[in-house]
Amino acid sequence: MVKLMKKMDSFLQKLVDEKRRNWSNDQRNMTLIDVMLDLQQKEPEFYTEEIVKGVVLIMLIAGSETSARSMEWALSLLLNHPEIMNKVREEINNVVHQDHLMNESEASKLKYLQNVIMEVLRLYPVTPMLIPHESSNDCNVCGFDVPKGTILLVNLWTLHRDPNLWVDPTRFVPERFEERGLDSEIYNMLPFGVGRRACPGSVLAKRFMANAIASLIQCFEWERIGNEEIDMTEGIGITMPKVEPLIALCRPRQVMVNLLSNI
Ligand code: HEM
Repeated sequence: MVKLMKKMDSFLQKLVDEKRRNWSNDQRNMTLIDVMLDLQQKEPEFYTEEIVKGVVLIMLIAGSETSARSMEWALSLLLNHPEIMNKVREEINNVVHQDHLMNESEASKLKYLQNVIMEVLRLYPVTPMLIPHESSNDCNVCGFDVPKGTILLVNLWTLHRDPNLWVDPTRFVPERFEERGLDSEIYNMLPFGVGRRACPGSVLAKRFMANAIASLIQCFEWERIGNEEIDMTEGIGITMPKVEPLIALCRPRQVMVNLLSNI
């Protein structure tokens, strides 16, 4: 562990030093590290080197595998539901002109895709038991006495498939969010947790997942490698993996070949 942490620390230090060498306060191109280096100059006692590296580390740990796995679940579900994949493609064709790669502001107009992402997070929350929380004081929650020091595990997976809360709970139906609205996330579904310790990256995650999935669908035709459906069995891990990693076929869409060849 000591060896590994030293390796990790030197990787993070290199990232920070690289940014320090090329530091710019151009607001449009500032990265998170640039912002923290700026703050370090103003409040050096708080933004120490350890704090800066710690923030980068937690972003990498909490932000990458969660998002990557959610996108793997999303593409798998879309491959098993070609009619929904077609609807997403149609929406992209209507919003994005084929003479350029889609950008972030266009991705935010893809309402159906946003519903697809919500439905993926409902069926396959990558942290199915959230993160354990511990009560710091005696408290009462909805009539239940919770003594100080109680560990709370929230079973999201069951909540998200509860037949009392969801019609046809195990089916992949992004349209359900057209009626319910995306606000149903609060309490009926909590893929990012809730309250003070909820995920601070939730807005970013939903945005870049939409952007990434939409770009993959804008540029490529996707197919399963055989007639069989993609195996959706969930495995065990800190974030919920697929037991069978996704393998799919893709080929550039004819209308995008020229654009892709010039990138
Ligand atoms: C699909 C993507 C993501 C999912 C499903 C997800 C989910 C979660 C969940 C469930 C928690 C714990 C909440 C709780 O215990 O109540 C959490 C915490 C956290 N997430 Fe995310 N997350 C995602 C992406 C990201 C991204 C992109 C970032 C940052 C770049 C991020 C940063 C964090 C951090 C720093 C915490 C710890 C917050 C704290 O303890 O106060 N997450 N996330």
